[in-house]
Amino acid sequence: MSEPSIDTIDFNLDLARQQIDEQLVRFTEFDADCPAQLREAIRYSLLSPGKRLRPLLVMMACEACGKDSKESLPAACAVEMIHTYSLIHDDLPSMDDDQLRRGQPTCHVKFDESTAILAGDALIPLAFQVVCSEYPPSIATPCSVELAQACGATRLVGGQVDDLAQESDQMGDLEKLEHIHRRKTGALLSVSLRLGAIVAAGSSKQIAALEIFGKNLGLAFQIVDDLLDCRGDWTKMGKMTNKDDGRGKLTYPNLMGVEQSESRAAGLVHDAVESLADFGSRAEPLRNLAKYVLERTH
Ligand code: IPE
Ligand code: IPE
Ligand code: MG
Ligand code: MG
Ligand code: MG
Repeated sequence: MSEPSIDTIDFNLDLARQQIDEQLVRFTEFDADCPAQLREAIRYSLLSPGKRLRPLLVMMACEACGKDSKESLPAACAVEMIHTYSLIHDDLPSMDDDQLRRGQPTCHVKFDESTAILAGDALIPLAFQVVCSEYPPSIATPCSVELAQACGATRLVGGQVDDLAQESDQMGDLEKLEHIHRRKTGALLSVSLRLGAIVAAGSSKQIAALEIFGKNLGLAFQIVDDLLDCRGDWTKMGKMTNKDDGRGKLTYPNLMGVEQSESRAAGLVHDAVESLADFGSRAEPLRNLAKYVLERTH
């Protein structure tokens, strides 16, 4: 049987990824005031071969709400910029101390630590610059507020703080773990869907359904990430495996075992797919993407 692949999804993924990458290139041209090494480091990480899952979610949500996905490209790129900054910083020696990301040396290994910190720093304002310069205020303002909330102190950054604190405090339970995963990873997946809906002027009913989809998918995604850390193939994943145990991370497989973690992820994806019932065929790409998240091997 062939490998489960994101490319089997009924949505022109190659085209969407190509569009995303073209725009990411365009948004990172920079003028001569950007130091050459900083530009190189930003592009090294941002343009490296990630799955582009979050920008695809933005585009698919936009389609599901009835607009051409191309209109959501700037928002999609903004989310990928925030995601990439979070990966660069997540890999730093003071955080997860990882050497491999997307099949290549991590940013601080390839360049140096200060360059990696600053490349990550630069991606955050760039994301907001793109949203605010590419959309009228009626779209830019809600997108900026939502994105800022999702990546700020109560969500992505807060989740990362608690994830790291957990390494030296082994008293974790399921409630704590879920709270961490929903914020460090789930928030950015959820906001990706919201941005797509905002660009498409989706109804409040559509946004509410996408919210449920995103919440379930976001948690499932990080459970699968935890599972892949203990049994995935690092050559496929492009990042090292068996890191979480070594660092004393609180993860689903550690707390619930592999089988229960798998069934929890499957249940969440099932609920995610159910939440899209009212969308009809326009949401088929999102349904397929949710199933891919469960079956993915990288
Ligand atoms: C990795 O995310 C970090 C997590 C939140 C688990 P992805 O698995 O989406 O990474 P890329 O973008 O494909 O490299
Ligand atoms: C990363 O989670 C979450 C964010 C970057 C916000 P992980 O630390 O589990 O991601 P990987 O396994 O290094 O990709
Ligand atoms: Mg981490
Ligand atoms: Mg990590
Ligand atoms: Mg992980």
